[in-house]
Amino acid sequence: MSDTWIILGATSSIARAFAREISATGAGVVLAGRDMADLAATEADCLARGAAYAKSMAFDARDTTSFDAILDFVGGQAGMLNATVFVGSMPDQSEIDSDPSMIAGVVTDSFTGPANFLQRLAPMMEERGGGAVVGVGSVAGDRGRLGNYVYGAAKAGFATYLSGLRNRLGREGVHVMTVKPGPVDTAMTWGLDSMPFMTTPDGAVADILKGLRKKRNVIYTAGIWRLVMFVIRSVPEPIFKKLSI
Ligand SMILES: NC(=O)c1ccc[n+]([C@@H]2O[C@H](COP(=O)([O-])OP(=O)(O)OC[C@H]3O[C@@H](n4cnc5c(N)ncnc54)[C@H](OP(=O)(O)O)[C@@H]3O)[C@@H](O)[C@H]2O)c1
Repeated sequence: MSDTWIILGATSSIARAFAREISATGAGVVLAGRDMADLAATEADCLARGAAYAKSMAFDARDTTSFDAILDFVGGQAGMLNATVFVGSMPDQSEIDSDPSMIAGVVTDSFTGPANFLQRLAPMMEERGGGAVVGVGSVAGDRGRLGNYVYGAAKAGFATYLSGLRNRLGREGVHVMTVKPGPVDTAMTWGLDSMPFMTTPDGAVADILKGLRKKRNVIYTAGIWRLVMFVIRSVPEPIFKKLSI
């Protein structure tokens, strides 16, 4: 009997690297996302690496009806259920400043859409008494900054949601881990100015798997970002509001 990993946002390159690694453990994977052709390629890769099964399923964080089929499918699988959330969108802050109607989409992609899905999955996990949830937030959620404060606010909301979910599900043997990446070399950061302490999708996944093994509650990847964000959070607001970091 194999466990199932639901991977939301499976077209992200971090998610693809995670799917490959988790497939090698013999788990079944549900690859959920919007680009079915991209998911199909990952599906073949997962099967080649030893997944018990791999299934691509349509998932749009902005369309909660797309959650139904995934929840029905995983409800019928034996073994423990696990979920990872790699969904998120980070439009340029200046675009949002000139079109505030974009805020709703950013918050749905990075927070309320995935939270809605997890809220519906939670009772199934509680009933089975095990499994893990891995939610990808961002260091951007640790402090509102000039360059990405709407995205950061959505990630902060998601991190707070995960903290509460951890409190709830931990009582039933389900572990919830929050992942706060600094810059990762993916589609989201291509074309942006060079950033310090950048990691790769494989590096981020190695940190996630290590965190899961150690049952960590909150991890930073690369790990140096825990210290960097401690310093950034410590800057007094009267000074911080004048900085452009
Ligand atoms: N790269 C970084 O530096 C960095 C830093 C901190 C946190 N993160 C977080 O890491 C996660 C993965 O990001 P990434 O760097 O791999 O960038 P990415 O390739 O842009 O991944 C974002 C993922 O979210 C999906 N997505 C966005 N809106 C969606 C929606 N409405 N419905 C369903 N899926 C949606 C994208 O799907 P499509 O392919 O269909 O667009 C894609 O799979 C994100 O949560 C991101 O916020 C990244």
